[in-house]
Amino acid sequence: MITHPSYAVEPWSLRETELNLDVLPQSESVFALSNGHVGWRGNLDEGEPHGLPGSYLNGVFELRPLPYAEAGFGYPESGQTVINVTNGKVIRLLVDDEPFDLRYGRLRSHERVLDLRSGLLHRTVVWTSPAGRTVQVRSTRLVSFTQRSIAAIGYEVEPLDSEVRVVLQSELVANEELPDTGGDPRVSAALRSPLRHEEDFAKELRLRLLHRTENSGLRVACAADHVVNGPDTTRTSGESGPDVARLTVTSVLKPGQALRVEKFVSYGWSKVRSRPAVRDQVDAALAAARSTGWQGLVDQQRGYLDDFWARSDVEVEGDAEIQQAVRFALFHVLQAGARAEERAIPAKGLTGSGYDGHSFWDTETFVLPLLTYTSPDAVAEALRWRQSTLPAARQRARQLGLKGATFPWRTVDGQECSAYWPAGTAAFHVNADVADAVVRYVSSTGDEDFERETGVELLVETARLWRSLGHHDHHGRFHIDGVTGPDEYSAVADDNTYTNLMAQANLRAAADAVERHTERAAAMGVDDEETAAWRDAAESMTVPYDGALGVHEQSAGYTGHQVWDFAATKPDQYPLMLHFPYFDIYRKQVVKQADLVLAMYLRGDAFDDEQKARNFAYYEALTVRDSSLSACCQAVMAAEVGHLRLAWDYLGEAALMDLKDLENNTRDGLHIASLAGTWIALVAGFGGMRHREGVLSFAPSLPEKLARLAFTVMVRGRRLRVEITDSVTTYTMVEGAPLEVNHYGRPVTVSDKAPQTLPVPAPAARPEPKQPPGRRPGRRA
Ligand code: BGC
Repeated sequence: MITHPSYAVEPWSLRETELNLDVLPQSESVFALSNGHVGWRGNLDEGEPHGLPGSYLNGVFELRPLPYAEAGFGYPESGQTVINVTNGKVIRLLVDDEPFDLRYGRLRSHERVLDLRSGLLHRTVVWTSPAGRTVQVRSTRLVSFTQRSIAAIGYEVEPLDSEVRVVLQSELVANEELPDTGGDPRVSAALRSPLRHEEDFAKELRLRLLHRTENSGLRVACAADHVVNGPDTTRTSGESGPDVARLTVTSVLKPGQALRVEKFVSYGWSKVRSRPAVRDQVDAALAAARSTGWQGLVDQQRGYLDDFWARSDVEVEGDAEIQQAVRFALFHVLQAGARAEERAIPAKGLTGSGYDGHSFWDTETFVLPLLTYTSPDAVAEALRWRQSTLPAARQRARQLGLKGATFPWRTVDGQECSAYWPAGTAAFHVNADVADAVVRYVSSTGDEDFERETGVELLVETARLWRSLGHHDHHGRFHIDGVTGPDEYSAVADDNTYTNLMAQANLRAAADAVERHTERAAAMGVDDEETAAWRDAAESMTVPYDGALGVHEQSAGYTGHQVWDFAATKPDQYPLMLHFPYFDIYRKQVVKQADLVLAMYLRGDAFDDEQKARNFAYYEALTVRDSSLSACCQAVMAAEVGHLRLAWDYLGEAALMDLKDLENNTRDGLHIASLAGTWIALVAGFGGMRHREGVLSFAPSLPEKLARLAFTVMVRGRRLRVEITDSVTTYTMVEGAPLEVNHYGRPVTVSDKAPQTLPVPAPAARPEPKQPPGRRPGRRA
């Protein structure tokens, strides 16, 4: 947990007022910059000390063999691991004859500020060298949202007491040494020297390196250009070798004189393009960035973010920490998805190599809902990426003896990379999660072209999967047996309620979409018989219910299992998966993360109010939240059934997951889904926002601590603002034509001329449910 008090609570920035090397790896994650294509961890400019050096390109990975003690048919043969590509961030400095290294000399002050409105990371350092020379270093870094291949640094050094000779080395470095990763399965496999040299170049102020990965065969290029401003004594020279290209700048500076270097870095990669083509690509991107100039890039960044905040901001009055956290979350989710452009959005974004850089269902179920209502174009891109992986997903389905398509549980490029089938291959729900994201995007944007070109294909292929995976029993009831739901502490169970309800929605949505796009469907060979079979399976879907207890079962027979011995489990034995065998975890009632509770949020129409309250209480007592994906779902349902205080506590956990390093693994990268969950907990939780059958509905209510919550959502090309206080909610159409929404079941038309202010009813009073001993979320003060 990050306990040092150096992160100031500010509404629009994350400020670290002193450097604490103990938490350097965590700070590298929270200060990471990315645009979804290029990602730079918040490593110090001078490269050392570091926790985990990290420069990533979305989609660039290396293959490695997956080890199996016992082989089995259909096991993926190789895994994919994101690699640390060429580091373009490095700017080393020599002050007289001492390297600027914060482990030596005296660090007088060190401040880093991530400005969420400008998208810039600022650093100001005052340092005295062991020989007694004091310098101030100021740097500003950006990864451009507007020029997708570009990152840039403005770097300035100035002596504060006496004249100094400085040598500045601006570098591109490939195959950096990486620290050991230990035995945590959530950490990535560290691949040593994954890049093979192809070309290196240095001329005047320009540098370039070209490499290729050995097994995945991806060509990676990185180039840099510079603008140097200093006194007349300033000289420059360039050199390059297989893994380093370097510009050296020397200067003699008097107090009051500064040496300023602007470094423009461009990245490109390809599996198919030739060496000259990739080389030209990075040179061209660099030329464009140079012509925009440093200030131009800074201005474009601001403009891009002004637009983003105008359509996405969330205002929280009454809890300054949550206010900061939700903007931090929105910013990082935007960074993860903004310019991914037909690539996956990994679970850690491009902030670290945790989970090998894989993307999971996290994208469709957690990240895309936020983006649907704030940056819908990014959602269309993410789903087009899924579509582009259909050939692999179809092949996988055939291998498993199934129809349609089976999307991978974890992947970089669309191939299944999970070596553990009970919580990988068997987690078929990812397919319904993709379908759910399609339906949400189409119904909130009305994007018919997307539905025809992309949506139908995704819905049809997933519907086919469900129809072939499930079966009708002799009573005609439809079952999906032997699957793993979201809760990874149960596996290979029959009729997982979440999976069944999401599959049911998937089957219906596919049948409906086919009726709207008959030609497209016919081209896919869909006929009336097939859609009738989908509707039939949906209508007869099994939803397990324990009549004696009056609760839904997470899967068939679940409530009959022995309950985990929580009393005998010590606090340091969580997460359970690192301390107990799956064999024991699987056969008991203990829930890693919201499963049935998530079903009640995403398929709320399948439960009545009383069932929701009873189910929520039952599963609260079993849920240990060993996944960061859980707290936000519990927040939403706690709010819906009236436990506003508890919902507030869960929101706090989701929101501060990384800022306080609650799971002790922020060093490996940010929990992008949990960050998105901050928004989900506020908007779907306290705003009670749901989207059903094309209509946005709200059932807002605030916890006592909160004086006001306001958020803006994009829906059908409009900007709708919702402002909630303890007694009323006001809906305002900021931009766009009138729209009908639902407030506590009542239709209201909102137009720019007539904001609607409506009363907020008091929540149902129910006794607060209990969690397993020691697993209650921390109480927010
Ligand atoms: C969770 C999964 C999740 C994965 C990546 C696991 O711990 O159980 O649901 O997809 O982490 O975030």
